[in-house]
Amino acid sequence: MRWLLQAAGTAMALTLAAPAMAASVTIVCGYQELELRLCREGAERWAKESGNQVVVQAALERSDERYFQYLDLLARGDDSVDVLQIDVIWPSALADGLVDLSALVPPEEQQRHLPAIVANNTIGGRLVALPWFTDAGMLFYRKDLLEQHDIPVPQTYGELADAALAIQTAERAAGRPDVWGYVFQGQAYEGLTCNALEWISAFGGGRILSEDGAITIDSPAAVLALSTAASWVGSIAPVNVTQFEEEDARITFARGNAVFMRNWPYAWAVLQAEGSPMKGKVGVAPLPQGGSHGQHSATLGGWQLAVSKYSKNQAAAIELVRFLASPEEQKRRAVAGAFAPTIEALYQDPEVLAANPFFAELGKVLQAAVARPSAEAGAQYAQLSTQFWETAHATLAGYGTARDNLATLAGRLETLRLRSGW
Ligand code: GLC
Repeated sequence: MRWLLQAAGTAMALTLAAPAMAASVTIVCGYQELELRLCREGAERWAKESGNQVVVQAALERSDERYFQYLDLLARGDDSVDVLQIDVIWPSALADGLVDLSALVPPEEQQRHLPAIVANNTIGGRLVALPWFTDAGMLFYRKDLLEQHDIPVPQTYGELADAALAIQTAERAAGRPDVWGYVFQGQAYEGLTCNALEWISAFGGGRILSEDGAITIDSPAAVLALSTAASWVGSIAPVNVTQFEEEDARITFARGNAVFMRNWPYAWAVLQAEGSPMKGKVGVAPLPQGGSHGQHSATLGGWQLAVSKYSKNQAAAIELVRFLASPEEQKRRAVAGAFAPTIEALYQDPEVLAANPFFAELGKVLQAAVARPSAEAGAQYAQLSTQFWETAHATLAGYGTARDNLATLAGRLETLRLRSGW
């Protein structure tokens, strides 16, 4: 009997000591250099500590391209990717292909994230992704140039255009012909949906759909917002801003060729990096309001980590997701990359705040941020967004007026709504 117990004890000890079968997990994450590096470092640390292997694949640059890639991957039941980095607008459309994490991640780990993001990632009671970082559009400006010209940080888009033109004119007269006043994301893609939604919401024009799914986009406020933005192209913004994505705007600003830039927080860390010519010259503020009737509006962005239902290594994939979404990793990414945590406590962390002084303000911006209508449009969101950015892009490029283009858009969205019944 004693022997039996001893033998059982030894067997148990062996089972405990023996590492679980090592798995290899493939994650797709990050595009921009620093972002990709931070993801790789985190994933490799997890692999080392857990005795597993990890393969890190760079994601495609554009959110909308990633979406169609994931949609295709999941539709084919492809098992080559275990962990996917998904945009805040995709949980509802991709839910069927993703693992329900609600019973597989301890409740205290779910509850430490901002409740609104957990709610966003919960589709029909299934938690389809853990929040990784959140995002909101911000106004980056050349602190040195504003000081030199004694111009305060603009509070309305009108003030922004005036300041941009004054400084652009002075810079050019001083022998810097490549300087423009304002850069943003004007390419026809999801980034333009974010920018145009900010303009429209700032002018009091709502968020494309109302909360009950009605189409509200064809309004005088939206017309004013889009025609205002179109007036910037070629005057304070380069004509090819209609081909700019995040990195194009960031690189133009980093070279000293823009006074103001609309971008996401990640740009801060890259601009402040050792050796960056802009280090110490950049300020970050909330985006302007439309006019005296408008409001400061930022589009809510952000990324989640999800596990594919077709993964053959689900247990290990979930471990990796939990590790990357943990407070330690979110803090490291916030300090080194300005990725805004989804864990509220980190906004009080002295190291996080020291690395990102604007995070104090970002908290307020995030609370008031405008969500794209992905919850309302569900699986039709990609279609809706494509129609919306095409309208904004045509208007910026001078094809048709804001008034006509928005009326056409409203008609198209109505057809989409009737067909899909959102
Ligand atoms: C940022 C945002 C994301 C958005 C994308 C658009 O990555 O976090 O939500 O869809 O920009 O380009």
